[in-house]
Amino acid sequence: MSPVVVSTSPLPGPWLGRLAETFDVRIVEPAPEESFRFEVGEADALISLLTVRVGAELIAAAPRLKIVANYAVGVDNVDRAAAAARGIVVTHTPGALTDATADTAMALLLALYRRLIEGDRLVRAGGYSGWKPDLLLGRDPKGKTLGIVGPGRIGKAVARRARAFGMSVVAFGRSPRDPEDPDDPTRVSFDELLGRSDVVSLHVPLTPETRHLMDGPAFSKMKPDAILINTARGPIVDEMALCRALDAGRIAGAGLDVFENEPVIAPALLDDDRVVLLPHAASATIETRSEMARMVCEDVRRVLSGESPRWPDSHPSPASSNP
Ligand code: DGY
Repeated sequence: MSPVVVSTSPLPGPWLGRLAETFDVRIVEPAPEESFRFEVGEADALISLLTVRVGAELIAAAPRLKIVANYAVGVDNVDRAAAAARGIVVTHTPGALTDATADTAMALLLALYRRLIEGDRLVRAGGYSGWKPDLLLGRDPKGKTLGIVGPGRIGKAVARRARAFGMSVVAFGRSPRDPEDPDDPTRVSFDELLGRSDVVSLHVPLTPETRHLMDGPAFSKMKPDAILINTARGPIVDEMALCRALDAGRIAGAGLDVFENEPVIAPALLDDDRVVLLPHAASATIETRSEMARMVCEDVRRVLSGESPRWPDSHPSPASSNP
């Protein structure tokens, strides 16, 4: 009998099909939950989407499981401590989505600075009656300061892009600046970053320490004309505090690809022209999503063949896992 691979979704590209030449690949979209538990009960490998909670209960229901290959760079949906306790490898897709996500962070920044969505709405609504000196005036990124919270792979890729637009960049993160890496921004404290930045862009993983990192007190330290960009994870931002900060004019806008309770979005955000919203699509390019599929399938093949995975999760201590 071939080892069983349960994937919680079809994946772009040929990779899942190729895996099926060797293994018994079953695509099980996890609803209803009971039938999913039943299928996972036979799984030697699980390919999970970030929308699927791979908690201790699910792991306990899968006695043969050897690998959870998460189709994402973030692993906050996986109880890594429960997996580690059973010797189950957790893998993910670092690097594959760095450029796509950094491009999206810049796209949100530019959409807000240059009021692109408002302009599109105005034209479609028949509101364009000719060129005017003060029509939809936005702001230049040049000369502004970008604050990167979490200068890892994606944060540094955003920094590189922002400098090309004439911005200066500071960062707050756990690791010291790498003097050998010209992309690595100067470190400042979190409070200094909030106080100095015209744009604050979030690039930390979701952990118990980063949940609601952007809360009421954090928003009150930002400049009133600053904007927030979030392409990381929704719960890093206290969404109600963000709504209050926008309402009170404590910040000027937000570009959000992720939300605290996806796919539900706070109604106040939906009604606010100073906010640009995307449906968790920062990595959504054909090339990136296919590469992510290649990575998860390769690690499943390796682990089921007795080899070490190429992309094991390397986030700090499973004890701080946040299933
Ligand atoms: C991730 O990989 O963690 C993104 O949120 C989706 O690609």
